[in-house]
Amino acid sequence: MKICTTHPSSARSSMTETEPVAFPQDRTCPYHPPTGYDPLRADRPLSRITLFDGRPAWLVTGHGIARALLADLRLSTDRTRDGFPAPTARFAAVRNRRAALLGVDDPEHRVQRRMMVPSFTLRRAAELRPRIQEIVDERIDAMIAQGPPAELVSAFALPVPSTVICALLGVPYTDHDFFEGQSRRLLRGPTADDVMDARDQLEEYFDELIDRKQKLPGPGDGVLDELVHRQLRDGEVNREELIALAIILLVAGHETTANMISLGTFTLLQHPDRLAELRTDPALIPNAVEELMRMLSIADGLLRMALEDIEVAGTTIRAGEGVVFSTSVVNRDEDVYTDPDTLDWHRPARHHIAFGFGIHQCLGQNLARAELEIALHTLFDRLPTLRLAAPAEEIPFKPGDTIQGMLELPVTW
Ligand code: HEM
Repeated sequence: MKICTTHPSSARSSMTETEPVAFPQDRTCPYHPPTGYDPLRADRPLSRITLFDGRPAWLVTGHGIARALLADLRLSTDRTRDGFPAPTARFAAVRNRRAALLGVDDPEHRVQRRMMVPSFTLRRAAELRPRIQEIVDERIDAMIAQGPPAELVSAFALPVPSTVICALLGVPYTDHDFFEGQSRRLLRGPTADDVMDARDQLEEYFDELIDRKQKLPGPGDGVLDELVHRQLRDGEVNREELIALAIILLVAGHETTANMISLGTFTLLQHPDRLAELRTDPALIPNAVEELMRMLSIADGLLRMALEDIEVAGTTIRAGEGVVFSTSVVNRDEDVYTDPDTLDWHRPARHHIAFGFGIHQCLGQNLARAELEIALHTLFDRLPTLRLAAPAEEIPFKPGDTIQGMLELPVTW
């Protein structure tokens, strides 16, 4: 795992590869797309790839076509459909389990999404900011009290979003070891059995939590309390659906943001000039978060299946074929971003697809932005001498078949 010092684009012009490349591949540098995708970064917005099981699929790498296809309802996210592309054996293992939101198409999706939107508005995220600030400060207080060095993933990057999503959903944070462990197994378990077992355990956990909430005389102030005491009671949602909703909210709500905090911190420490610029002008932070989202594209490989033939970019995607979106490559499309491999806090980065696009665009994006702004700003503000406590090239990061981020981040100050 080496930290790259040159931009991946330097290799681009000589690539004339036409053989399907394998997907997914590991990054060689945690904040750049896998160099194995370089052949696809030339002029082709759509290429053939081979999945882990040898099945072919399409990989979308052009920005315009990615947004058009993500907004196209002829592409399904229902992973239970025959032929839905599986990037890994563990994804294939849980394919037949019903997932909420990201696992369902309209009209079912629209009903679920409408139910959830009021809890994830910009306004709701703004109301949560003081609480997020408290949570961030508490974690930094604890790091300071313990004294340097620290392992930033376990001391900060993971507990911050985990505490926030617990407060928002109404899940007891005291259970965090359990659900963080199961989420890890669900996303990165070594075997298919492991992944299935993690899913079973989370289902059981929420079944019991819902029972406990149902026994209370009225709703507490978490999103799940509301769902149990209104939508479940009134039959707008059934128990199985509610459990699936709770799982996606909890897992997506902490794992992704934790990875952005750890990889974002690492990336800033590798770019001292950019970090200095942020310190001088904190007003740049919201745009810096957007630019980090674009650059890091941690959810790299959004999955769809064509329900009908789709003509696009002079090609036909046939009904039944798998379509995968490489967010990291799409977000570095040179036609949209000048010098795309460089971090630039002043560029308009907002139309990246790191939160997806179309009807499944990230439900938690307002919350994630608030958490990232507060966490990164406060961390570097309160620990101004923060630096890596190990050589960058020795710090392990996550493999390409899961959400990208640091496995560990040893720091000192
Ligand atoms: C920086 C952190 C995050 C990143 C990078 C991220 C990324 C994404 C992406 C790329 C999608 C779309 C997937 C697709 O179209 O296939 C998505 C959907 C989703 N995200 Fe996030 N997310 C983040 C934080 C959150 C948070 C904090 C929550 C809170 C609950 C959340 C909940 C969801 C849900 C429920 C969906 C599915 C939405 C739907 O299908 O309608 N995410 N996220």
